[in-house]
Amino acid sequence: MKTTEWTNLLSAPPSKPLVAPSILSADFGSLADDCRAVLDSGADLLHIDIMDGHFVPNLSMGPATCASLRKHFPDVYLDVHLMIEEPEKFIQSFIDAGADHVTVHVEVVDDPMAIAASIRELGASPGLALNPETPVEAVMPFVEAFDLILVMSVHPGYSGQAFLPEVLEKVRALRAKFGDTIRIEADGGVSPKTAPACLEAGYDVLVSGSSVFGSNDQAADIAAIRGTA
Ligand code: DX5
Ligand code: ZN
Repeated sequence: MKTTEWTNLLSAPPSKPLVAPSILSADFGSLADDCRAVLDSGADLLHIDIMDGHFVPNLSMGPATCASLRKHFPDVYLDVHLMIEEPEKFIQSFIDAGADHVTVHVEVVDDPMAIAASIRELGASPGLALNPETPVEAVMPFVEAFDLILVMSVHPGYSGQAFLPEVLEKVRALRAKFGDTIRIEADGGVSPKTAPACLEAGYDVLVSGSSVFGSNDQAADIAAIRGTA
């Protein structure tokens, strides 16, 4: 677990929108080079999508990938998104592998308050995610125990899907209730085209996979997604 100022990146109130490329869209055969490219192009952190083939219909990667990234990038903030059943079974192994932040899905967690506490005890910041079909009421009672709420903007499982604008009303509801005491993360279908509506609704961490890794001008597209083009 790193102890640099990055550790609280997702715990601090939003000072500016952050852009987090999802490595699911990187070329796994040159993962470190692809990550170096997006970081050199202005990405603020890396988003690591973990899928188990049960909670979502796809399989992706495990703690070993997180550990490899930590070895290559000792000071980069690693934001792990667990799209898995029984996430409590894997929190320790991802934090031991170097995760700074761990997000779990409200749909598969019995006791969100307990899991937030255990993520913090292990030295990482906790996040709670909800799928497009999950009403925002499902997370409201637990928000204050987490540093970040991930409002999925696609149905989880694959990159390259179209952004679902109907989720923006959940973002507005969270911002209206909690102000800037929490970070709200967009995840799925985020690009320079869809980012302005995300920022306007109140998202302040923008995950982008296919748009950034498929870009022929990553610096320009990252700046455009952050709204600083
Ligand atoms: C979807 C993942 C997203 C996805 C983003 O299940 O959680 O992070 O990889 O990829 P794009 O930006 O291509 O939708
Ligand atoms: Zn994700």
